[in-house]
Amino acid sequence: MKLLVTGAGGMLGRAVVEAAQRLGHDVRGATRAELDITDLGALQQAIARRRPDAIVNCAAYTDVDAAESDRLAAFAINGKGAGNVAAAAAHAGAAIVHVSTDYVFDGSKREPWLESDAVAPLGAYGASKLAGERAVAAANPAHAIVRTAWLFGAGGKNFVDTMLALGAEREEVSVVTDQVGCPTWTGHLAGALVELAERPGETGVHHIAGAGSCSWNELALEVFDRAAVDCRVLPTTTAAFPRPAPRPAYSVLGSERRDPLVLPPWQDGVAAYLATRVSA
Ligand SMILES: NC(=O)c1ccc[n+]([C@@H]2O[C@H](COP(=O)([O-])OP(=O)(O)OC[C@H]3O[C@@H](n4cnc5c(N)ncnc54)[C@H](OP(=O)(O)O)[C@@H]3O)[C@@H](O)[C@H]2O)c1
Repeated sequence: MKLLVTGAGGMLGRAVVEAAQRLGHDVRGATRAELDITDLGALQQAIARRRPDAIVNCAAYTDVDAAESDRLAAFAINGKGAGNVAAAAAHAGAAIVHVSTDYVFDGSKREPWLESDAVAPLGAYGASKLAGERAVAAANPAHAIVRTAWLFGAGGKNFVDTMLALGAEREEVSVVTDQVGCPTWTGHLAGALVELAERPGETGVHHIAGAGSCSWNELALEVFDRAAVDCRVLPTTTAAFPRPAPRPAYSVLGSERRDPLVLPPWQDGVAAYLATRVSA
């Protein structure tokens, strides 16, 4: 099938282009410089030229802390921009697979969040992504909205790379134990997004993230263990490390769908990502 990937210069976007190519699709990735999703006219032109069967929207404002003081930009891209992609796709008869986040939840549950659970984002980033979910659903009936979490992979700022850089220069790092989520390798998620694009009947919200869950502290331990990095991981708390944006304490994603797309365990994602770093 013919696919268009927006935000293709980002961490997830590039993985989706690679996965689609591997699966034999005719895919075109557009970076921000090539296609700005806040420009509805440019989107309509690109889609009219390309005539894709589906668009995978990986374009987003993703700086969670900066969004607190830059709400307008976050909402312009994550809210209105996402709606633009969905509307332009609908106009051309194309489906949209749109990527959203676990940060639409407030983290107050202690068991996995399901698709129908009440949303209540704590910060501006989560609120802007929720606005995007609503804009996408309103603009295009052929939509799949994929909430995912704690992404790591090649070509983007992520926690695994940060830990490896710190571990190379320090003897110990302090990492929070009181935020729990689902680390997800972009290589695993990308295949699932392409699969959803292949199945336009699978509309609505999907929770898709690395199987299992852990704290950031446990993720750091796993990374150092697998990469044989000799760096101690000390426990700390969110309160001891204040950041501009509040984060959910527990944002583990589960699914109530009858036939959910299930990704491999997050530890397999860490191993797979580290293997790509070694071979790169
Ligand atoms: N990273 C995570 O932990 C995480 C967790 C849950 C969900 N998500 C969601 O996953 C998706 C992919 O995120 P990611 O981690 O791949 O982030 P990323 O590496 O920051 O990629 C986002 C891409 O979108 C581009 N972009 C920004 N504004 C744009 C615009 N107006 N038009 C077109 N492109 C634009 C960015 O370009 P510039 O870099 O040039 O601005 C960047 O290449 C996003 O929807 C994000 O909300 C991410």
